Amino acid sequence: MAAFEFRSPYLLSLTFLLLLLLVLSFSPFNKSSFSLINLSSSSSSKTPSVPLHSNLTSSNQYVSPSPSQSHSQSQSRSRSQPPFPSPTPIVADHVKEKSNTSKIEEQLARARAAIHKAVLTKNYTSDRQEIYIPRGSVYRNPYAFHQSHIEMVKRFKIWAYKEGEIPMFHNGPMSYIYSIEGQFMDELDSSGKSPFLARHLHEAHSFFVPVSVKRIADFLYDRPKPHTFHGRLVRIVTDYINVVAQKYPYWNRSEGADHFMVSCHDWAPEIINDDLKFYKNFIRVLCNANISEGFQPGRDVSLPEYNLASGTLGPSRLDSHPDERPILAFFAGGAHGDIRKFLFEHWRDKDEEIQVHEYLPKGQNYHQIMGQTKFCLCPSGTEVASPRVVEAMYAGCVPVLISDYYALPFGDVLDWSKFTIEIPPKRIPEIKTILKAVSHAEYLKLQKRVMQVRRHFELNRPAKPFDVFHMVLHSIWLRRLNIRLPD
Ligand SMILES: *[C@@H]1O[C@H](CO)[C@@H](O)[C@H](O)[C@H]1NC(C)=O
Ligand SMILES: *[C@@H]1O[C@H](CO)[C@@H](O)[C@H](O)[C@H]1NC(C)=O
Ligand SMILES: *[C@@H]1O[C@H](CO)[C@@H](O)[C@H](O)[C@H]1NC(C)=O
Ligand SMILES: *[C@@H]1O[C@H](CO)[C@@H](O)[C@H](O)[C@H]1NC(C)=O
Ligand SMILES: *[C@@H]1O[C@H](CO)[C@@H](O)[C@H](O)[C@H]1NC(C)=O
Ligand SMILES: *[C@@H]1O[C@H](CO)[C@@H](O)[C@H](O)[C@H]1NC(C)=O
Ligand SMILES: *[C@@H]1O[C@H](CO)[C@@H](O)[C@H](O)[C@H]1NC(C)=O
Repeated sequence: MAAFEFRSPYLLSLTFLLLLLLVLSFSPFNKSSFSLINLSSSSSSKTPSVPLHSNLTSSNQYVSPSPSQSHSQSQSRSRSQPPFPSPTPIVADHVKEKSNTSKIEEQLARARAAIHKAVLTKNYTSDRQEIYIPRGSVYRNPYAFHQSHIEMVKRFKIWAYKEGEIPMFHNGPMSYIYSIEGQFMDELDSSGKSPFLARHLHEAHSFFVPVSVKRIADFLYDRPKPHTFHGRLVRIVTDYINVVAQKYPYWNRSEGADHFMVSCHDWAPEIINDDLKFYKNFIRVLCNANISEGFQPGRDVSLPEYNLASGTLGPSRLDSHPDERPILAFFAGGAHGDIRKFLFEHWRDKDEEIQVHEYLPKGQNYHQIMGQTKFCLCPSGTEVASPRVVEAMYAGCVPVLISDYYALPFGDVLDWSKFTIEIPPKRIPEIKTILKAVSHAEYLKLQKRVMQVRRHFELNRPAKPFDVFHMVLHSIWLRRLNIRLPD
């Protein structure tokens, strides 16, 4: 990165100033909040309400270009000029011995600068061979995403707290419907092999709270009284965080904004309910990403759901060529939840082209049928997420999303409208009309994009660049890029 081999104090201070401006204006890739990168887009957005984010000018190491620009969030969105006023040089002597925090913050500032440059030049900078170059309309901003991914792989370090013991900590389900919870924990934490794992506390950008809600449920639900379970669940997690907040300075420093947990269990969202203030910044990576139940897309991260058979990392690929898919639409699954009840009312075993079953006819292979289907229906059940979204992609079948209040995974990066069809639940009776109205050319386009994005939903052990593990980490990385810690 030649840009950071400083040659003169003046250049150094100039660069600091530019980095400061980047810090002030950086937002996630959601088009609407990408104020720095695309100055013409000015719509309002959901940016995490992180208090640290706003007061960046208090550090006297930096100079604020003008008072009106010191308060980033609202200002940067409405700013109509590029954020590069003529800089006031800072004397290099001011750059004294750096604290560990400011070292970390400098790394993040470099990452932001590299992302900014990639967007301006529409190209990337990397010191290694790139295996995949994200391009095309499925990405909200392919250049920003690509560079951000490069920076993440190069720099991002996570401290997994060591406190706590199995079964409820450092351990999770590896198969069945909640498997992503255990797979993620094993990949990042228990296996001890992840290159993202910080070796020392002082090099960490983010902190992982290694609790498994599924395991807590396995061990405590029903014993002895189910009605006390939810209170105990909340207490276990809160006690854990209190322990690490006493022992280390990190939770207090950011009020939890650089801390995260990962859970696919239905009850995981409840954890914060007893003390919304204490948890106001805490990042919850959840399958149950229901924005009507407290999930906040700017703060929390939506986790795709996987229904893994024991010992596997996903269904085998039985996908046919897009022109060899005789079935228009397919769904098979339980009748739980209002949306599915409505779907069954209209379509169960009624139509040759819209195949909707509660139970698959004997002898049929679920994944094979998906591989012969053009559009796979993915209605919410008792929770918003469904493993069908990933299963459809694995089968090269265009997902048809039928849900309310569902924050889709990786929405900062991916434009889901480019590779799925969304049908509001109330239009379930029109499914056939809607799908029949999709031209063959449009279908082929959607299908091709499904094949393109499915790499972001692949589960690998160990993880590989751009796969689902990296996408989840990238969501956390983005949220970390959006805050700046005081020294
Ligand atoms: C910026 O955003 C606006 C509105 O969202 C869009 O029309 C325009 O093409 C974008 N410009 C660039 C350079 O991406
Ligand atoms: C920003 O920080 C300075 C110095 O620490 C403080 O005086 C000021 O009140 C803060 N401003 C806001 C908006 O928090
Ligand atoms: C983009 O950057 C890569 C690596 O730095 C380089 O190989 C490639 O030629 C560049 N492409 C364009 C269009 O500038
Ligand atoms: C700061 O980093 C150094 C290594 O660069 C380490 O030895 C030291 O313990 C760290 N200090 C704190 C407070 O973490
Ligand atoms: C963090 O804050 C809590 C509550 O104010 C306090 O009890 C705890 O000692 C603090 N932790 C550290 C490491 O100072
Ligand atoms: C999402 O949350 C709302 C509000 O609590 C609830 O009515 C709805 O049923 C939830 N959706 C699903 C699919 O569970
Ligand atoms: C992205 O912005 C749209 C509004 O433009 C919003 O509906 C969506 O929830 C946002 N996604 C994330 C992940 O913030």
